[in-house]
Amino acid sequence: MLKGRSLIEPEDFSLSEMEFLFSLAEMIEKDEKYLRNSLKGRLLATLFFEPSTRTRLSFEAAMLRLGGSCLGFAEPGSSSAVKGESLADTIRMAASYADAIVMRNPKEGAALLASRYSVVPVINAGDGGHHHPTQTLTDLLTIRQLLGKIENFTVGFCGDLKFGRTVHSLAKALARFPDIKMIFISPQELILPEYIKNMLKNQNIIFDERENLEKSMPELDVLYMTRVQRERFFNEDDYIRLKDTYVLNKEKMSAGKEKMIVLHPLPRVNEISVEIDSDPRAAYFKQAKYGMYVRMALLASVLGAEDVKY
Ligand code: CP
Repeated sequence: MLKGRSLIEPEDFSLSEMEFLFSLAEMIEKDEKYLRNSLKGRLLATLFFEPSTRTRLSFEAAMLRLGGSCLGFAEPGSSSAVKGESLADTIRMAASYADAIVMRNPKEGAALLASRYSVVPVINAGDGGHHHPTQTLTDLLTIRQLLGKIENFTVGFCGDLKFGRTVHSLAKALARFPDIKMIFISPQELILPEYIKNMLKNQNIIFDERENLEKSMPELDVLYMTRVQRERFFNEDDYIRLKDTYVLNKEKMSAGKEKMIVLHPLPRVNEISVEIDSDPRAAYFKQAKYGMYVRMALLASVLGAEDVKY
């Protein structure tokens, strides 16, 4: 039963619940009229305390395509947060106006706190460097759509693995699928947090940490590139020194498998050269579109659309 549920971390939904959402998203993708108007009269609050293009717009597009409406703010400067209102009070208000809340916040744990003060479902659209579970649903749906399954793959994560919340969420989620090997490629300063590595070790997941992208390319079925997260650095000089550590270009791609796919949660800065965009293995723009379909499936499910039965 997904109706009424919040989504704060990837593990909040079981594997079969995620499979249900992927199937629903695939049905919506095949027939964009499916579930049209199923949320007529329902309201979604989108509360973004940090900038966003894809997550906010795809949630709003999803709600509007399902016949519902949206209200909210795209930056905290236009909310009473600037007057010192607490997050708990903001959430209490939004929950009294809307049927569900999607929130992005720079503080780790903010989404969990919000869910404790909300009488309607809260969906975490990113809490600091912690988690981004609907990006994970997007990433998994993209792998399933383009490679036909989510198992028996080697997945390379490259870039800012310390602050990249999409990496943390996807690594935790992939650990639940069979025969997934993970290779984490980053400079020493941006390695994966210890708590994620401990979780992988406890589940006997095979993983490796490296600094060299070129040498890892031939092994990968999925390459997950990430941006160095400037907004999480304390020191601008460190950001400038690290930001162009990895740039995926034609030369590096030539070492990759023919059927490999390249994902990126976006936005990208320099880490994927635009010359790669026309390579059939570049899947990041398709990935962003799948994000809308899976968010339609998620909203229809947690808001209990008539035709959606889990
Ligand atoms: N992938 C992602 O979260 O993009 P935005 O920051 O644009 O929402």
